[in-house]
Amino acid sequence: MTELKNDLLLRALLRQPTSRTPLWIMRQAGRYLPEYRATRAEAGDFMSLCRNPDLACEVTMQPLRRYALDAAILFSDILTVPDAMGLGLYFVTGEGPKFKSPVQTADAIRGLKVPDVEKELGYVFDAVRTIRRELNGKVPLIGFAGSPFTCGTYMVEGGSSREFPIIKGLAKEAPDVLDELMDKVAETTTEYLNAQIEAGAQAVQIFDTWGAALDPDDFRRFSLASMQKIVDGLTREKDGRTIPVILFTKGAGPLLRDLADTGCDALGVDWTTDLAQAREYVQDRVALQGNLDPATLRESPEVIREGVARTLASYGDGPGHVFNLGHGITPDIDPDNLGVLVDAVHELSPQYHK
Ligand code: CP3
Repeated sequence: MTELKNDLLLRALLRQPTSRTPLWIMRQAGRYLPEYRATRAEAGDFMSLCRNPDLACEVTMQPLRRYALDAAILFSDILTVPDAMGLGLYFVTGEGPKFKSPVQTADAIRGLKVPDVEKELGYVFDAVRTIRRELNGKVPLIGFAGSPFTCGTYMVEGGSSREFPIIKGLAKEAPDVLDELMDKVAETTTEYLNAQIEAGAQAVQIFDTWGAALDPDDFRRFSLASMQKIVDGLTREKDGRTIPVILFTKGAGPLLRDLADTGCDALGVDWTTDLAQAREYVQDRVALQGNLDPATLRESPEVIREGVARTLASYGDGPGHVFNLGHGITPDIDPDNLGVLVDAVHELSPQYHK
């Protein structure tokens, strides 16, 4: 087994002391990088890129060649899970993800099967093994999945949605049916993440982009409860190391308290909550990851540095902070601006770890 040369991320996620604040960036491999666009063109389209372990490995490594980041994140998508459940994922340029067979009725949900993840998602585990080999211990590899509710919005609505009319209708009119959908996706996701861990993922993050679109009671019943089932079922130790679990509910606000109760190790925080406030909510029970507004990366180097300084100061002294954006980097960002951010974290964070 290769020794991990930079374990800052894993230490910070477990709130252990580090010499500086580690960082990675959500969507760090993506369309803002010209080399990503070239590899995607070589693959043909986005899903072909995800299904090709060598090319998925190549795009995973691209941001690490440019920037001093402390983690790699598996290149894939959260919607590979519903695809493996038989919904038929495809992408329409300009319209985002779509499903050929959305599940919009009680009968369709009852008919859904928990798939054999090794058979349907083996290409993801091949990518994890390929990336670990290529990383050769440089930094840890983060695996991920979507939350059952976030995947559920796409599975039920058939694609991206603003208001979530169909799934919110189920939550109010047929909550037992929605529970069944959440259970099936949670079971699949638990097996999927455990197989990523088995293949070499050293930390995992659950992306709950849309859970906070529910009212707090429904958030707890559907999104939180299904993430709880996943947390309870995950492999938490491998090769003598803890596998940290990060939950990221965008827009969680005070619900960070409930998320900290799940027994996860860390919570992602978006930019609508100050890290100082988030730290008060969770009372140092878990590490925090975030939370600079991605829009800041459109500004001048001075404004970016100032944003980094304010984010670090808001978390304040002590371990347990992983620097990140509050959501994914957007395709319009100048790659040099991310370099300014990375350098600022390296330069400004050691003073908080004395
Ligand atoms: O963070 C990373 O670098 C890992 C890779 C990753 C992708 N998607 C790659 C991707 C991760 C973690 C995701 C998560 C994801 N996918 C979420 C949750 C997190 C979030 O950002 O809110 C959601 C809701 C999706 C579903 C999805 N996939 C959408 C809405 C889109 C955008 C479609 C569009 O046309 O804009 C995707 C496609 C996608 N996933 C891209 C990438 C790099 C862009 C596809 C391309 O290259 O054209």
